[in-house]
Amino acid sequence: MNITMIGTGYVGLVTGTCFSEFGHHVICVDKIDEKIDKLRSGHIPIYEPGLKPLVQKNVEEGRLKFTTDLAASVPGADAVFIAVGTPASRRGDGYADLSYIYEAAGELAPYLEGYTVIVDKSTVPVGTARQVERIIKENNAQADFDVASNPEFLREGAAINDFMRPDRVVIGVSSKRAEKVLRDIYKPLYLIETPIVCTTIETAELTKYAANAFLAIKISFINEIANVCEVVDADITALAKAIGMDKRIGPKFLHPGPGYGGSCFPKDTMALMRIVQEYGENVRLVEAAVEVNAAQKARMVKKIRDMLGGSEAGKTIAFLGLTFKPETDDMRESPSISIIPALMEKGARIKAHDPKGMEEAKKYLPSGVEYVANSYEACDHADAVVLMTEWNQYRALDLEKVKKLLNEPVFIDLRNVYDPKTMKELGFRYTSVGRK
Ligand code: UGA
Repeated sequence: MNITMIGTGYVGLVTGTCFSEFGHHVICVDKIDEKIDKLRSGHIPIYEPGLKPLVQKNVEEGRLKFTTDLAASVPGADAVFIAVGTPASRRGDGYADLSYIYEAAGELAPYLEGYTVIVDKSTVPVGTARQVERIIKENNAQADFDVASNPEFLREGAAINDFMRPDRVVIGVSSKRAEKVLRDIYKPLYLIETPIVCTTIETAELTKYAANAFLAIKISFINEIANVCEVVDADITALAKAIGMDKRIGPKFLHPGPGYGGSCFPKDTMALMRIVQEYGENVRLVEAAVEVNAAQKARMVKKIRDMLGGSEAGKTIAFLGLTFKPETDDMRESPSISIIPALMEKGARIKAHDPKGMEEAKKYLPSGVEYVANSYEACDHADAVVLMTEWNQYRALDLEKVKKLLNEPVFIDLRNVYDPKTMKELGFRYTSVGRK
């Protein structure tokens, strides 16, 4: 199949590359010359494990191309995927900004030749595909096309695997012709018996928001229960394991922590709240999850302050990890963006390390943060260490060394990586989330 991918951001680049790995011919189009030049010379603008070699391989084998030339990329495509950004609206009201999607639809329309399926890949509110359809018709009355929705469920840091071995693929279509094209594109997944859920366009659009909102609720739920554990002397790890064994609940996404972050849950929960309000409905559980998440981040500030004896003023705090989760350099909505400035405002000095996120972090954190080369340098002469993101390299720290380097043996483990009993035996004043 011939596929054109508009947008070489996270979703577009991963999806386009994986489609080419399936054996399809993929052209990735972007407006930014510099980005395309870099991609052509083998530079990948994001850190995603496994992506770089996959791009290289498929470029070498002639199935993956990068260009800024939309006019040359649309004719002859069986499907044109729109995977441009949908940032939170600049109006600051929680709506997703769809202007890039509509712009892409208007621009590609004149170049359509033969039957083409236009697929919304970006996370978009219900009704967006119909707008894309209208815009294309307005710009090319003769065009033979259908619009479809194909939401992505990729996790950053695990995107290639999620793409190659998905739990399911959701396609929202309004014609058998469009369904056939999308089923053909995903054919390689039939071999591993991936379920393809074929729905209406509106159902597919809402499915994406519902999935992310449910996961956000699940995390906020376990964070609240963790807080209850702390006051009643219960243990969240054992509790989460026990409830997760119930197949109706499931063991995943039951890890308590400093609150969820990233480019998806915060944005999509807000957008869902706004979408339903427009219809006079509400999603109170989602609203509660958002509130709980904000409170969880604030709670972490208090946890750190308490461990420093009630005030962070004049104290040096080592932060291990800054990104919203491991295996990514993405800092968007990372809990560290709320927690670190709150501590600095009250006079704390921050020494921080992150394996991949330090360059990005500089764009999001106050300029006073000192970035260091490794975890031990961060701990050197610090009054406490905060394990913020559970990167593998922080899971096996030389704890004796950490203790020696710290001014005070204070260890605040916001990801429950270490065992409380062992940490206390080693002489740390240790706290985590939902465990004593
Ligand atoms: C999320 C979804 O998991 C993907 O299915 C979806 O495709 C994606 O959003 C998207 O909409 O594009 P992602 O944001 O990459 O993926 O990351 P997750 O692994 O879901 O983690 C999100 C946040 O939740 C992180 O801050 C993580 O630390 C936190 N989290 C996750 C917890 O605090 N506890 C958990 O048990 C799981």
